[in-house]
Order: sequence, then C-alpha cells, then structure tokens
Amino acid sequence: MKFLILLLQLISITLAIVPNVNHIPENKKEQNPLKFESTEKSLSLPNLLTIDSKSQISNYDLSKTINYDNGRLLLDKNGVMWSKNTLPQDEFTIEVDFRSTGRIEDLQFLENQLSIILAENIQSFDKFDGFKFLINNQEQEGLKIFNNDGSKTLNNLIDESIGDCKFRYLESNVPFTIRISYKRSESWFKVQIDNNLCFKTNRIQIPNNSKLRLGVFSIINRSSIEEFEILNVKVWDHLIEDAIDDHGLMNDGEVKVEFKTIVVEESQATDAIKPEYKRESLMEKAQKQRQESMQVQDFNVLKKLQDLEYQQNEKIDKLIQIQNELNSNLQNQKKELQQLFTTQYAEILSSISTLNQKLIGEVREQHFGMEELSKKVDLLMNNHKEIAYQYEKNQIQQQQQQQQHIQVPTSSVFDSLIKWILVPLLIILIILVIFVYRLRHDIKHSKLL
Ligand SMILES: *[C@@H]1O[C@H](CO)[C@@H](O)[C@H](O)[C@H]1NC(C)=O
Ligand SMILES: *[C@@H]1O[C@H](CO)[C@@H](O)[C@H](O)[C@H]1NC(C)=O
Repeated sequence: MKFLILLLQLISITLAIVPNVNHIPENKKEQNPLKFESTEKSLSLPNLLTIDSKSQISNYDLSKTINYDNGRLLLDKNGVMWSKNTLPQDEFTIEVDFRSTGRIEDLQFLENQLSIILAENIQSFDKFDGFKFLINNQEQEGLKIFNNDGSKTLNNLIDESIGDCKFRYLESNVPFTIRISYKRSESWFKVQIDNNLCFKTNRIQIPNNSKLRLGVFSIINRSSIEEFEILNVKVWDHLIEDAIDDHGLMNDGEVKVEFKTIVVEESQATDAIKPEYKRESLMEKAQKQRQESMQVQDFNVLKKLQDLEYQQNEKIDKLIQIQNELNSNLQNQKKELQQLFTTQYAEILSSISTLNQKLIGEVREQHFGMEELSKKVDLLMNNHKEIAYQYEKNQIQQQQQQQQHIQVPTSSVFDSLIKWILVPLLIILIILVIFVYRLRHDIKHSKLL
C-alpha cells in the first residue's frame, strides 16, 4: 500500500513538473488504436475491423442512423458523419473506401447518393462553402465534383460541376476508393477513383485560414434497398505516393473550373477544357483492368471453387439419384406390402367369417346339446328330488321306528331295576330297621337292669 501511494504521488508530481503534458499521454495513445498521436491523422477512422461498436469512433460525429457491422459503417437512408477535427490547411490526402449494395433497379432512384463534403459552413447539403464529391446515378452513373462558395444552392447537375467521371458502382460487390489530394504549394488538386485519375487541376487554392471539416452522408429513397457502406476513411497531412502516381494513366487533364472565392486564378477558368470523353474511356478502361486483374487474381480460387462446386454438384446428383432409387424401391415395397396386406386381410377376413360360421354352428349345436342336457338334468333333478323325498320319508319312518325300539328296552330295564334291586333293597332296609329297633330295645332293657 505504501509503495502504491508513493508511486501515485510520484506520478502526480511528474505530471505537475513536466511542462509538455501532452508528451506522456501521447505514449499512452500509441497503445490505443482509437486515438491518434498527431492531429493530421485524427480525421482517419480507426481500423473498423478491430472495433466492436461505433461508439469506439471518437473523432467523428455519427448520426443515429449509421450502424456499425462487421468492419463497416452502414449509412442507411440518411446517414451523416462529420469529422470533429479540421483538415490540414496546406496539404492533405483523403481516402474513402466505400461500397454500394445497389443493383441495376436502383438506377431509377436518382436521389440515391453518397456524398463527401469538405466545407467550413454548411447550410444544407446543397449550400455550403467548399467541395462536394457526389456519387450518384443522376444523368450518369459515377462521380460529380462541385465547388460552392456558400451563396448558391446546387442542383447537382453535371453542368454545374467542376468535373465528373463515369464509373459503375451499382451491381458491383467490390469496394471503391475515392482519393482526394491537395497541395497548396504545387497547386495540386486531384481526385482519383481506385488509383485512376478522375479529375485534376492546378487552379484551385483553398484559403489559408479555412477550417474544412470532412463529412460523408447518404440519401436513399425509402423504396430503395440500396445501401452505402464506409469501409475506411484515411487522412494524411501530405500527398501520399498513390496520390502522386496515377499508375501510368493520364495525369494532364485540364478541367472546367467554376469557382469564385476559393480558387485564386479565376480568370483562367474559362480556358479549362473538360476532357470528359478521355476520362470516361479512361475510367472504363480502368474499370476493365480492375475487373481483369481481379479475375486473374481470383482465377485460381475461382477455378478451385468451381471444381469444388462441380464435385459437390456431382455428389449431390449422385445422392439425389440414390435417394430417388431408394424412394422408388420404397414405394414399390410399399405397394407390394399394401397388396400383401390387402390380400392377407381379405383371407383373414374370409377365414374369420368361415370360422365364425363354424363357431356359430358349433355353438348352436352345443347350445342344442346343452338344452338337451339341461332337460336331462332337470329330469334327473326331478328324479333326485323324488328319490330324496322318498329317502327322507324312509328316514323319518326309520327314525320313528328306531325311537320306538329304543323306548321299549329302557322302560323294561327301569322296571326290572325297580323289581329286582329296589324292592329287595327296601325289604332288606325294613328288616334292618326292625332289627335295629329290636336291638336297641334290647340294649335299653339290659342297661336298665
Ligand atoms: C498562405 O500561406 C502561404 C504560405 O504558406 C503564404 O505564402 C500566402 O501568402 C498565404 N496566403 C494568404 C491569403 O494568407
Ligand atoms: C422515391 O422513388 C419513387 C419512385 O421512383 C418516387 O416516386 C418518389 O418521389 C421518391 N421519393 C423521394 C423522396 O424522392
């Protein structure tokens, strides 16, 4: 604990003493990919593949309609984003990687657009002091570049533009990179699409003290499902190599420039040529080249994929065939089974019915037999009853006879008992009594004597 407190004190003292306070946070910032060590890069978006949500983008104000998804910002119907910092004044390169999900059906929605604005004061998307790089399909599919001093409202027509180039961004799943580079000291102002020159002039000078902010916005018709995605925004404080090198393509294009306050050499504006045809063919060529190179690069992969797909298809075909065979087999078996079932069912039914009839016959016979039997049993029972009755009668008679038989001998025994035992006993008793009386009498007399 003591050590910690000491450390904290030390840190606070160091912070207080070191005069350039920015020095220490700068080192910390380097570890954090979301913050930038120097101001000229603070207009760059963080690597969108390494963040989790749009809340991690701290150097832009994003409208609520903008969503972050898998390394890209989805601008939705009316997405607006504005850099919090201003562009470097003397020299800069801006790169915006974008993609449109639009299809050929979206050509009908003329208001569908992605726009990049460099401006200081914005009254509306058509009235501002600065530049607008408009990607839409009104008049022609591609880019139109406008310059406005903030006094007029743009109609976004090619006639008003300081330059334009045609390129097909609908029906393309590949992202495009628009690069805007500027260097005051070399009177450099250039716009490229995918390293191909779209517009270049030496007649534009941005005032020294202007504080241009970088804005990107989308407008999409409610009925359209086209969506613009921003994959990256990078800003440097110098001309990068890719901005200088046009990959060997045209780099001397003079263009019609209509400007008032921002551009210095106003008088020469009318001399400017508009090499629309050249640019167009260039862009188309570049587009072709891009597609060809993509094709070459992807050829092997594509071939492998196709092979794989072919193999898979073959396998799937085989599987389907097998399945069909199985199905037909199954159906045949099912039919056979059904037939078997029906025939067997019928047989079973008929056998059951015959069995039933037999059974019924037997039952009837048995019933008849039973009836006979029951009649016989009844007869038997009657006989039995008769017999039983007779038997009972006999029994009673026998009993009566027996009772009579038993009563006679007992009375005779009693009589004989009285006759032969009691009577003699009585006589003996009387004799004894007489004898005893006489004896007593004799004894009395003898005593008296
Ligand atoms: C702009 O700055 C340059 C030097 O960077 C200077 O030569 C020039 O006079 C300045 N122009 C204005 C209008 O301030
Ligand atoms: C959207 O497109 C439909 C059909 O193209 C059109 O009628 C409508 O005016 C458009 N809406 C806006 C706001 O532009």
